[in-house]
Amino acid sequence: MIDIHCHPLPDTDDGARNFETALAMLRMSAEDGVTHVVATPHCNFRFDFDAERNRKKAEELQAAVGDTPKILLGCDFHLAYENIRRLTQDHEPFSINGTGYVLVEFDEHFVPAHMDNAFYDIQLAGFTPILTHPERNAMCRRRLEDVHNWLSRGCLVQITAQSYTGGFGSEAQKACERLLDLNMVHIVASDAHDPRRRPPILSAAFQKMFSERGQTLAELLFQGNPEAVIQGKPLPPGPTPLSPSQKKKTRWWAFFSSRR
Ligand SMILES: [Fe+2]
Repeated sequence: MIDIHCHPLPDTDDGARNFETALAMLRMSAEDGVTHVVATPHCNFRFDFDAERNRKKAEELQAAVGDTPKILLGCDFHLAYENIRRLTQDHEPFSINGTGYVLVEFDEHFVPAHMDNAFYDIQLAGFTPILTHPERNAMCRRRLEDVHNWLSRGCLVQITAQSYTGGFGSEAQKACERLLDLNMVHIVASDAHDPRRRPPILSAAFQKMFSERGQTLAELLFQGNPEAVIQGKPLPPGPTPLSPSQKKKTRWWAFFSSRR
């Protein structure tokens, strides 16, 4: 498995507090079956993003942890006006492993206005936005039609493994299932911040998806799609996202047809 969203860099953001904790997280990832971890420090109002500092910390960690997991770099990119300018005009290295894919997050409770424009600007600059954990955002949960619109214009969606297994509560878990029913999930990642409360564990979510939705989808979301992302390739073919309203109509039509 490949984890494209994780916070192991020590003393960088609200992830690993120190070097020992960072090492514990990475060893946990390796034991869990993860071959590649993308370290994605926050870039928001609280935490500044320093690519050179991140690179040095990743090198130190890699030397200490050995060959597995392989540590790559990215950013948990907060969607704010100033950040978008840094990405599109200054071309700061926010993308995952230097590819055209970039993780984008917004606040857990609301969706900023003009999101369509923000995604458009990012795509115009040649990047593919990967929207992180919409299942944990109350507005996204209520506005799946908007999320579907962003997907239909080329945005991708990553959900958090711990949301899918219930660790972020029933609302987030139900939203994961709904997004999966609509084929609106491309990647599952840990978004791990520490070894205990938010650990870098993917295997529990993989097993759940394997048993409930089949091997093909599980391998696509935990391996095939994230592998394409770190290599900067197009995603392999997957199920077509369905519009929530269209799916509702289809269900009603099936219900009426069955009663005729
Ligand atoms: Fe994150």
